[in-house]
Amino acid sequence: MQNMYKLKIAVIIWMMLISDAVQSQNPGDQGISSSDNFKIEALLRTMTIDEKVGQLSLFISGWDVTGPTLNNNYKKLIKEGKVGAIFNAYTVDYVRELQKMALDESRLKIPLIFGYDVIHGHRTIFPIPLGQACSWDLAAIEKSERIAAQEATAEGLNWTFAPMVDITRDPRWGRVDEGAGEDTWLDCAIAQARVKGFQGTDLAANNTLLACAKHFAAYGAPQAGRDYNTVDMSQLSLYEWYLPPYKACVDAGVGSVMTSFNEIAGVPSTSNKWLLTDLLRNSWGFKGFVVTDFTAINELIPHGVATDLKEAAKLALNAGVDMDMQGSAYLNSLADLYNGKKITMKQLDDAVRVVLQAKFKLGLFDDPYRYCNKERQEKELMTPESQSFARKFVAQSCVLLKNQKQTLPIPATVRTIALIGPLGDSKKDMLGNWSAAGESEKCVTLLEGIKNRVNKNVSVIYEKGCNANDRDKSSFGNALKAASSADYVILALGEEGGMSGEASSRSNIDLPGVQNELAEIIINTGKPVAVVLFNGRPLTITKLNTLAPAILESWFGGTQAGNGIADVLLGDVNPSGKLTMTFPRNEGQIPIFYNAKNTGRPYNPADPGAKYVSRYLDCSNDPLFPFGYGLSYTSFTYSNLATTVEGSKINVTVQVTNSGNRDGEEVVQLYIRDKVGSVTRPLKELKGFQKVLITKGEIKTIEFNLTTADLAFYHPDLKKYWEPGEFVVYVGTNSAETISKSISVK
Ligand code: GLC
Repeated sequence: MQNMYKLKIAVIIWMMLISDAVQSQNPGDQGISSSDNFKIEALLRTMTIDEKVGQLSLFISGWDVTGPTLNNNYKKLIKEGKVGAIFNAYTVDYVRELQKMALDESRLKIPLIFGYDVIHGHRTIFPIPLGQACSWDLAAIEKSERIAAQEATAEGLNWTFAPMVDITRDPRWGRVDEGAGEDTWLDCAIAQARVKGFQGTDLAANNTLLACAKHFAAYGAPQAGRDYNTVDMSQLSLYEWYLPPYKACVDAGVGSVMTSFNEIAGVPSTSNKWLLTDLLRNSWGFKGFVVTDFTAINELIPHGVATDLKEAAKLALNAGVDMDMQGSAYLNSLADLYNGKKITMKQLDDAVRVVLQAKFKLGLFDDPYRYCNKERQEKELMTPESQSFARKFVAQSCVLLKNQKQTLPIPATVRTIALIGPLGDSKKDMLGNWSAAGESEKCVTLLEGIKNRVNKNVSVIYEKGCNANDRDKSSFGNALKAASSADYVILALGEEGGMSGEASSRSNIDLPGVQNELAEIIINTGKPVAVVLFNGRPLTITKLNTLAPAILESWFGGTQAGNGIADVLLGDVNPSGKLTMTFPRNEGQIPIFYNAKNTGRPYNPADPGAKYVSRYLDCSNDPLFPFGYGLSYTSFTYSNLATTVEGSKINVTVQVTNSGNRDGEEVVQLYIRDKVGSVTRPLKELKGFQKVLITKGEIKTIEFNLTTADLAFYHPDLKKYWEPGEFVVYVGTNSAETISKSISVK
């Protein structure tokens, strides 16, 4: 009888434990098995409050300082079980050393997560994300993240602080280089490709990375384009334009989200409960964990919403922040806040739970050294395959902005090429920003790329001509001499790599230094000149555009920059890139973007003298280069646009002819205008594209199928639905050059 009784009690306790675990677990994270959740609940019950707070603390390793503070006691904290994750530490040896510290020295031996800013490649660096977006090749973008994940995990990492999916309409902001530009629909598609590339289908595999959607939210809309500045916009704009790419990441299963430094309408994101809990978790169903940006909890004090670090930590935890990046705000405050009954153990457990779930998903509890495989590190970095892909991706990311009199490609008859300009032979600048473990010495410069490609009867001379960003013209003479002695001149102009990226806003976004003057004297020689631009943002190259016969936008192409650009310059690759961010004529036009509203007094080009319309006295309303713009070495014409509407289905077909003399890829773009809505609607909205190869002389019929769901938009009640009425369908080679047809959808 006694044994039976004991057995019954044991079963009851076991059932309670299991049922308790099932009830208390987060609203059922799909990626976690019930047995893992059970282990997590059991672990939570054994953790001290200090150990719980430790899991909510992320520290930099000091290998690559990406923010304003560095505390060197991270190793001591690891040993004390007060660290949940480390960032900016990699290589198998170093990760193993730190992981071993956590497992051997701490009481509960909870493995660490290792994160890094793997933004556009890890060792093999691909074009900056804004450049990649201009390829309009979702498969290539996904593949680049797959390779990045392969390389990063081969060096011990299992978390990346990417993709950055901030919508950007202001090129003064230095971080436009990190995103996909101004269009919400395209950014959502690119965001999902990136998350899939990083996370693959199994986070526990040793070659997949936990991704992190950032910077939540609307970090890309700072007033005056000045980094970290105030963001203030209507809820309608937030929902219509800025939030969807983050939601797209959540829908793609992103494992973490990073809060942004900025406020939105008076509330800093890091203490915004509506944003982090009501919207992200309760409305969107996000199941991962929320990490702050670098010391963003501490920055609630200068934001003016917290008087001290303890209050800041309370605000952040109450808002829904799970992990504190580098600020020690949680480490120094949460135990006191709990003991002072200012926060609850449930709040702590909820935060620790999602962090532990991520570690289970990554397989770290099964094998904390899963990502520490020396053999992989030796074999999987900078492979020939990744270099070959990178080279193609560079060429695909280039955008041909101008090409008068077929200046490009460089004719095969050319015997002497003069390469002139401060970006012509600069390894360090080819990487661009956020180049993770990329090694500048392994980058191929434009000079090297051209020399690699031309045959032996072509000589290449190089003159720097000037520095990128000072007033020294003393080398103009040598540059002029080089140009005069050549058949063909390439000008390598643009920004230094550090002139875009974080904390790198510019109020004047023309070519810096004396580069315009250098361009002018070289172009005035009358030689055939092609400009190659290296930059991390759209530039107001209005003056250069009047002077130069040909301009190729190459962004910062990464490891294989020089080879990929040379393939385009010499005609091996026909450029197909299209801008995903508008190029303004000058800073006065900013913000300028294609999906603008008509206003009540629209400017009508057919009536240029009208006074009382929305216009400037001193500048056109049109950009220098519009969204979706990019030329080819061939030419495409659009005809026979046909539409049919059947119920909720809209079918669109168009014929695209390659009317030039060589094969080429074209990004056929589909836009819609909703002529009348219960709120104002943009003049155009991208609703589809197809990147197609059309051989010379070929006529291709391209078909798009939309439904009324594609016509939906947010209303003041923040509900999204479409309204019947008149629409215009536009199809074309960019947002400004289209053919159109009106349709009625009931
Ligand atoms: C930086 C950036 C963020 C990055 C983080 C870690 O301040 O804002 O994008 O992921 O710190 O390096």
